Amino acid sequence: KQRPILIEGPMPIEAEKFADRLKNVKEEKAGTFEFYLGTVDNYPVIVAKTGKGMENTAAATAVAIERYNPIAIINQGTSGGHDPDLHVFDIVLGERTVNIGSLKTPHYQEGEGIHPKEWIPMDLMASEGSAGEDPDAENIRYFKGDKGLLAAAKAVKKEHEKGKVVEGTIGSADVWNNEVDRINWFHENYGTSVEEMEGAAGAQIAKAYDVPYLGIRILSNNKTNGGEYNPDTAAANQEYVYEVVKKYISKL
Ligand code: 5AD
Repeated sequence: KQRPILIEGPMPIEAEKFADRLKNVKEEKAGTFEFYLGTVDNYPVIVAKTGKGMENTAAATAVAIERYNPIAIINQGTSGGHDPDLHVFDIVLGERTVNIGSLKTPHYQEGEGIHPKEWIPMDLMASEGSAGEDPDAENIRYFKGDKGLLAAAKAVKKEHEKGKVVEGTIGSADVWNNEVDRINWFHENYGTSVEEMEGAAGAQIAKAYDVPYLGIRILSNNKTNGGEYNPDTAAANQEYVYEVVKKYISKL
């Protein structure tokens, strides 16, 4: 039996366009997660509507891996720009994905204030000891995008005509940053190209099960260059990801 390709999207507008493209669709649910099982070019593809955020994404990814044994996972959707050279409708291929909400604060006594620029990256996967005390955990954990999925995505870059497609770093947390100085801090310290709320959670679970994984994120907004939010980007990203999936299938 062929192992399916899993395409994850958080919001209805980020999953349903792709689900509409599937043939022979059957719908299944697990909790609040919805799975559309179908085919693309006669190959099994599952679209997962995960819901927003790290927890939904991690859980939906684990359920999907246990239930469907996917050969590869693409997590896709909208994002906010951290790089002023990227504009609304540009797409970032997640060469790296990183949790930008996993942080440890320095020690300050009562009345000494809050100092977000001094917060230290914390790697929860560094050791089995206390992440708060272990110096090895004071580290940025990057999850690498799968080479085969990246190759397929790079091969169809020209199919996306509404913007450019670049390789970059996707930062994830259950936070929507609108402070440009904070955005710039992540861009400088983590090398983030964009932020969203799912990629690193899916990447962590995919790695736990050793399943190839790639984040593909279109900019729907960019505070660093005045890029206003445009929800139409969600559909454009799914059209591009559809081309990526067809290319990936052709190489299997
Ligand atoms: N910051 C955080 N999340 C964003 N998203 C789009 N733009 C941003 C942004 N600037 C995505 C998240 C989440 C939903 C709120 O939109 O991934 O699913």
